[in-house]
Amino acid sequence: MKTIFSGIQPSGVITLGNYLGAIKQFIELQHEYDCYFCVVDQHAITVPQDRLELRKNIRSLAALYIAAGLDHKKATLFIQSEVPAHAQASWMLQCIAYIGELERMTQFKDKSAGKEAVSAGLLTYPPLMAADILLYGTHLVPVGEDQKQHLELTRDLAERFNRRYNDIFTIPDVRIPKVGARIMSLQEPTKKMSKSDQNKKAFITLLDEPKQIEKKIKSAVTDSDGLVKFDRENKPGVSNLLAIYSILGNKTIEELENQYAGKGYGEFKADLAEVVLQALTPIQERYRELVDSKELDDILDEGAEKARAKANRMLKKMENAMGLGRKRS
Ligand code: TYM
Repeated sequence: MKTIFSGIQPSGVITLGNYLGAIKQFIELQHEYDCYFCVVDQHAITVPQDRLELRKNIRSLAALYIAAGLDHKKATLFIQSEVPAHAQASWMLQCIAYIGELERMTQFKDKSAGKEAVSAGLLTYPPLMAADILLYGTHLVPVGEDQKQHLELTRDLAERFNRRYNDIFTIPDVRIPKVGARIMSLQEPTKKMSKSDQNKKAFITLLDEPKQIEKKIKSAVTDSDGLVKFDRENKPGVSNLLAIYSILGNKTIEELENQYAGKGYGEFKADLAEVVLQALTPIQERYRELVDSKELDDILDEGAEKARAKANRMLKKMENAMGLGRKRS
């Protein structure tokens, strides 16, 4: 069976973008692949985090994975910092990565632009992500569009390691969904929806109250021509809302365009809010049962144990390939 790995940062309550670009795919893939899904808390500390908030967000993200449909009997769910092999493998990969290629990552450029104090971790974030993936012999990595460049670097590092030392790594492929790979901000629809946006109206989180969701959709930026038509270039706001509606409402874009022909944005938005609520309400109910439960701790303990066993085997192979430590029989 082929292996899948993916991760999400616990740097705030996850958004509808994370759900549609990532988690929703994970849930579908868990039936066909050996899946490892991770709460990547070590990635989150590349920028300052409040420790209590971080702890809360880690637990909340783990509960949301399950509330959204992840079945821990099928897939392994764990917290990155509970599997030390990730940080250990990351160091080895940092030693074969070049500063130039890390500085060229668009995410590094965006996050460091104009800042005086930039953490070294922000620069060496991609080798940690490569370690996450490569430790599990991963074949496929389901992610949203914005992670594509990190995946290319992961492939480069794996190929370099295999060539230089020993052919131990599987070269992973990226899997980006056709619709939903890039859900945009509700306020500036040419920018991606992000949980770190200062403007809270720009994103919907999976834990927003129904009233908040209705309000955010109602105030989503559209345009003045009043036509419910998909056209990313000229109608980015409406197109984004259509993409969300299409995935959550299980209708094609054309069906929706026909359904709303001759109708205004008001009706379209009210129906979309209803569709979003229908999708999120059961997730929120399950979330509330889980988040403070022992059941969640048990799932995470078991996940960490499984992940450690698998990751440690690859870590040993890496150490042997590079000649670290002592040879033991
Ligand atoms: P993160 O935490 O920013 O996002 C988690 C996942 O959600 C996707 N995503 C989106 N998809 C569609 N529209 C959006 N607006 C949107 N915003 C985010 C992301 O593409 C991602 O799939 N570096 C990663 C976490 C990571 C990882 C890994 C991923 C660490 N190690 C190993 C895969 C494999 C990140 O910051 O994702």
